[in-house]
Amino acid sequence: MHVISSISDMIETRNALKGSVGFVPTMGYLHRGHLSLVEAARKQTDNVVASIFVNPTQFGPNEDLDSYPRNFERDEKMAEEAGVDFIFYPDKQDMYPEGYASYVVPEGLDNHLCGAKRPGHFRGVMTIVLKLFNIIRPTDGYFGQKDIQQARILEQMVTDFHLPVRMHIEPIVRERDGLAMSSRNVYLNPDERKQSVCLSRAIRLVETRFRAGQRDTAVLLSEAEKEIQRQASSKIDYIELVDYHTLEPIHRITDRAVLACAVYFGHTRLIDNTILE
Ligand code: PAJ
Repeated sequence: MHVISSISDMIETRNALKGSVGFVPTMGYLHRGHLSLVEAARKQTDNVVASIFVNPTQFGPNEDLDSYPRNFERDEKMAEEAGVDFIFYPDKQDMYPEGYASYVVPEGLDNHLCGAKRPGHFRGVMTIVLKLFNIIRPTDGYFGQKDIQQARILEQMVTDFHLPVRMHIEPIVRERDGLAMSSRNVYLNPDERKQSVCLSRAIRLVETRFRAGQRDTAVLLSEAEKEIQRQASSKIDYIELVDYHTLEPIHRITDRAVLACAVYFGHTRLIDNTILE
């Protein structure tokens, strides 16, 4: 595995690659969720590139940019074992040099869910992913359903800008007790960690009710809310049921839909979702 930290080296290396190129963008502090994307890329493409970059433009002023967990040596080892061929590990000055002045923004797909709660977040995500796509020129991009709104917004960006990238959305990888894997899970203290399982429990409860025929959004949301609120330290940021394609709220499920939630445990904000179809 090679670590590449300059943009020009990455472009040169990419130019010499033969066959398909699978790309897994990450912010590092890797876990099994990230590695499942690498595994999918490994199976489906000839070369696997992963990037590690904690992208400052997608963090709000009161968010956790400075405290975001970082451990490059550990990431390097995990990536190598998982079969990554190249890690692109650029620094902030190279990606956003002085005088940097261009951004990509979503139109509408960010009206709800995390987009409504984190103004500017998806502007930062779209911008960095377009930049990474332009540097790495992957044939295939791998993203997690864990960040369903991000995946949908990026899929739409690829369509709208005619980018020659096949997009893959991979299932959520969970801890044994159901908690969705996230680099931010390390922020949880033992008590919060215990309580955080209510997210996946709420998701499973909704899936069960949906399979039994329940299609009424209000009923499904209220059951999920109750399950989460049973935990004393949980604070719901949002819980919504939206159409899969438009990400707009719906009253009844008639087509592919997403139940998504963000919940605080102390200062830590966790997200989870399920696709209902
Ligand atoms: P990060 O949070 O590091 O996640 C990188 C990728 O891993 C994303 O596509 C995310 O959806 C996926 N992922 C995270 N947890 C997962 C889980 N439990 N199961 C499956 N996939 C999971 O998302 C970002 O970084 C950034 O916004 C980025 C796209 C890199 C742009 O900066």
